Amino acid sequence: MTSHAIQAGILGVGSYTPEKVLANKDIEKLVDTNDEWITTRTGIKERRIAGNDQVASDLGIEAGLAALKDAGINAMDVDLIIVATSTPDMHYPSTACIIQDKLGCKKAGAFDLAAACTGFVYAAVVAEQFIKAGTYKNVLVIGTEVYSRVVDWEDRSTCILFGDGAGAAVFGPVAGDKGFKATTLGSEGSGGDMLTLPCSGSRIPFGETESVNARAVVQMQGREVYKFAVRVMEEGTEEVLEKAGLAKDDIDLVVPHQANIRIIEHYAKKMKLPMEKIVANVDKYGNTSAASVPLALDEAYKQGRIKSGDNLLLLGFGAGLTWGAAVIKWA
Ligand code: UT7
Repeated sequence: MTSHAIQAGILGVGSYTPEKVLANKDIEKLVDTNDEWITTRTGIKERRIAGNDQVASDLGIEAGLAALKDAGINAMDVDLIIVATSTPDMHYPSTACIIQDKLGCKKAGAFDLAAACTGFVYAAVVAEQFIKAGTYKNVLVIGTEVYSRVVDWEDRSTCILFGDGAGAAVFGPVAGDKGFKATTLGSEGSGGDMLTLPCSGSRIPFGETESVNARAVVQMQGREVYKFAVRVMEEGTEEVLEKAGLAKDDIDLVVPHQANIRIIEHYAKKMKLPMEKIVANVDKYGNTSAASVPLALDEAYKQGRIKSGDNLLLLGFGAGLTWGAAVIKWA
């Protein structure tokens, strides 16, 4: 049973953000808000908006290509593609299949995974299972979102928060003591009503045009989600560190979901971690949901903030409600 000895880790990362920048000042022209409110309440200064001709698969392909290049593998080497998204091109074909075709990953299985903003962390944990079981070698995980198409641009409480983007990582076998050290996934479906995108499913059938259109946008009880976020980030960290047999100080870099700088700062304070040990780029991209963790990871990597042997803590939380954490030693 050699499969039990296989360690999964990250072989390469990449990301892509659309060119168009929408600054807080631009949103002032759309809704009754201002740069000062958005900056102090969220830390967001600007976000990226996909071009009219761009959909989730387009962003995901760019991020995926960059991750394959970074990993030094070809499209034909990919065994499985998992796409974490809440804004797929359509219900089916899955965005993963669209990307599989366009990237030319002819030997890969492909599916979408729905865990909202926690999607990338969930998908990473799924990837780890296939690799350590010996089923697959190279798993391409992509988080890609075009939230600008599903927010109500007349609702100031949500439209200021989100942005478009994609991030990706190639997971595969790694040597020595590198790779995944521990993971945890959680869900709290009882809180599902706090954050919903109630459209296009079986509950609200297609064809009920007016009511569907009125509800085909993100709806959020911001304060409640905020409380949930700070709670599970802490709990998730404690749990995954205990499982990994590591102390807080053993973590070199935390890569949290980017929803609000206040959530990240609250976490840093509670965990007594210096902000230098936490990646925060919410100011530039807003909340890119399933793309936010790999986007932040890729940025930190490109900035030279990650070196071989570093212990990373990926932290996700979001609709479902869901959360997840993974400690990964960088190969
Ligand atoms: O990725 C999924 C997870 N999502 C999150 O983690 C989001 C978590 N929640 C949050 O980040 C924060 O709750 C928000 C940023 C969404 C909101 O910040 P808040 O400090 O909780 O503000 P609030 O919703 O309590 O609103 C405070 C006031 C309200 O006015 P009144 O009732 O006090 O008069 C709002 O109407 O701010 C008003 N407000 C705004 N004012 C100017 C709400 N949105 C805006 C706005 N501009 N854009």
